[in-house]
Amino acid sequence: MIDPKTTSTGTPGKIHFIGGGNMASSLIGGLLKQGFSPENLSASDPNPQVRETLQTSHGVPALESNTQGSQGADLVVLAVKPQHMQAVVSELAEMLQQMDAPPVLLSIAAGITTDSIQRWAKVRVPVVRSMPNTPALIGQGASGLYATDNVNLMQRSLAGGVLAAVGKVWWLPEEKMLDAVTAVSGSGPAYFFLFMESLQAAGIELGLPEDISRGLALQTAVGAAALAAESVEPLTELRRRVTSPGGTTEAAINHMVGAGIPRHIKAAVKAASLRAEELSKEFG
Ligand SMILES: NC(=O)c1ccc[n+]([C@@H]2O[C@H](COP(=O)([O-])OP(=O)(O)OC[C@H]3O[C@@H](n4cnc5c(N)ncnc54)[C@H](OP(=O)(O)O)[C@@H]3O)[C@@H](O)[C@H]2O)c1
Repeated sequence: MIDPKTTSTGTPGKIHFIGGGNMASSLIGGLLKQGFSPENLSASDPNPQVRETLQTSHGVPALESNTQGSQGADLVVLAVKPQHMQAVVSELAEMLQQMDAPPVLLSIAAGITTDSIQRWAKVRVPVVRSMPNTPALIGQGASGLYATDNVNLMQRSLAGGVLAAVGKVWWLPEEKMLDAVTAVSGSGPAYFFLFMESLQAAGIELGLPEDISRGLALQTAVGAAALAAESVEPLTELRRRVTSPGGTTEAAINHMVGAGIPRHIKAAVKAASLRAEELSKEFG
């Protein structure tokens, strides 16, 4: 694997962020933590307060102009809301068309296809499209990434390195898989919040004080996820091991399966994937 911090010529990759909000700030923080030099990072955002925060908290130069910041970058991270993507990419179009070796564009916006980005850029720029999730804000993200066929190895490594600075990454062979990634891990934190919320509420109904029930629900989720992440066993086997015949866990699991919860979870995630597909069409 190529060091994500260097280009093919051995020089450090220069990364510019368009949009300096929550995600950009977390990604920049993650890169700095991994030893990426602030000199090789820059950002642009229309909001002077956002620029001030980026400069003071990360020591990263923050500009008003997106095109000025993107000049000379090896990677441009498009970290704006989906509804602002067309305007941002169109603004870069003229500059990108004039470049012999344009930077790779890394989009973290939900639902914006690589086709739309290349169409707005009016040139077949290399594009990496990703779907991170909110735990990326605390360095615990899960991201799916897809690269167009003109993204070279160094650019893949640089783009992958940005998302790897805030969590785990998985490269996808087909762009349409990003709809499934959106449904599983993009929306996924909300499913786990709902489960933890219900577990906490059940504990309270059984007589536990609220803070203790919340603590137990959260730490059980953290512990179960850590145990599963460390194990090579299938999840079904891990569940079987804590479900003794005739025991307390079996009483609960039988109730959940009887109520069709696994089936409902599959149907819910499929609905999310379908919605992701529809939103892609709307944004494009
Ligand atoms: N937050 C997450 O956990 C998460 C997870 C997965 C994916 N994402 C995706 O990541 C992207 C960024 O999300 P975010 O939460 O970081 O949003 P955010 O905090 O709103 O940041 C976006 C920033 O872009 C600025 N902006 C708007 N128009 C711009 C333009 N033309 N040029 C440059 N900057 C511009 C915004 O300024 P104004 O506020 O003044 O408009 C804002 O400061 C979104 O597409 C989102 O779908 C986020």
